[in-house]
Amino acid sequence: MEKGLKWSCVAVVVAFLAMVDVSVSVPFIMLHGIIAGCSDNTNANFTLLLRNLSGSPGFCVEIGNGVFTSMFMPLAHQAEIACEKVKQMKELSKGYNIVARSQGNLVARGLIEFCDGGPPVYNYISLAGPHAGISFIPMCNGLKSSPYCKKFDEIIKRGLYSDFAQNNAAPSGYYKIPTDITMYLESSKYLPKLSNEIPNQRNSTYKDRFASLHNLVLVKFQDDKVIVPIESTWFGFYPDGDFKHVLPAQQTKLYTEDWIGLKTLDTAGKVKFVSVPGGHLDMAYQDVVTHVVPYLKNQERTRKHRNI
Ligand SMILES: *[C@@H]1O[C@H](CO)[C@@H](O)[C@H](O)[C@H]1NC(C)=O
Ligand SMILES: *[C@@H]1O[C@H](CO)[C@@H](O)[C@H](O)[C@H]1NC(C)=O
Ligand SMILES: *[C@@H]1O[C@H](CO)[C@@H](O)[C@H](O)[C@H]1NC(C)=O
Repeated sequence: MEKGLKWSCVAVVVAFLAMVDVSVSVPFIMLHGIIAGCSDNTNANFTLLLRNLSGSPGFCVEIGNGVFTSMFMPLAHQAEIACEKVKQMKELSKGYNIVARSQGNLVARGLIEFCDGGPPVYNYISLAGPHAGISFIPMCNGLKSSPYCKKFDEIIKRGLYSDFAQNNAAPSGYYKIPTDITMYLESSKYLPKLSNEIPNQRNSTYKDRFASLHNLVLVKFQDDKVIVPIESTWFGFYPDGDFKHVLPAQQTKLYTEDWIGLKTLDTAGKVKFVSVPGGHLDMAYQDVVTHVVPYLKNQERTRKHRNI
């Protein structure tokens, strides 16, 4: 081959590779909620819908076997498994975005705050996340569809702050009774640590990591009957000792004392408090398009380079 021709071939290949590179967008992962799995209709479809609409690669990350694990494995362990999985996924090594549904949000925050050596998380879109805890856990009547319902009921009947429940029922890790805060801080094994609530045990690394998000989108469903109080999806909760009133996030100590960087993010204009019509996770197509998809498209890296 002529030398000149050879070099022009190289130039074409380089230009082509450059185009391929700029069209790669940031991948996302999807974390489902309780009594659910990546392969069920809802979650498989939702992940696919987000891929289709964003044009970004996306993966539903499964922990254990899905349904059973989501109910019975403590969240600390679930978050560890998610961390190991994410570290092994080459596609995510340059960073990724997260979309999480309901309880999956507690795994998501575990990934963001606790995952040593994990890739960075850029945008985090939270759908109906019980971020500040829940004060009510539906018993079997709310979970009839599950074959594991009876087992679940038997566990939580023994007391949600008991070691047994803490080690065997995932929701016990974010169960918070405002009139029993001492017990909660002593016995709950997940949320107090995740929210840096325990006075002498706050870890600034968790805060630094959470505060480094580019965008935090908190979606609340106006008719949500599963997350009680509903404001928990925006980090609002009852004040300590009071079961009657609910404080908006901005009036909680988690926010005013900035335990996990929520205030830092909000002050920087990086938190979107979104309220949509519908029951728990019942999100209209248009609301997905408006409030989720824009954060999964990476405009900067998909920008066309016209000068090559
Ligand atoms: C999957 O998503 C599409 C688009 O939103 C929707 O029309 C369809 O009903 C969904 N299917 C299932 C099984 O949820
Ligand atoms: C996603 O796109 C694929 C391929 O075009 C299509 O078969 C599928 O129905 C779409 N799914 C959803 C949920 O939008
Ligand atoms: C805080 O968390 C980081 C990250 O997991 C850990 O390396 C560090 O030892 C923790 N610090 C304290 C004081 O526990």
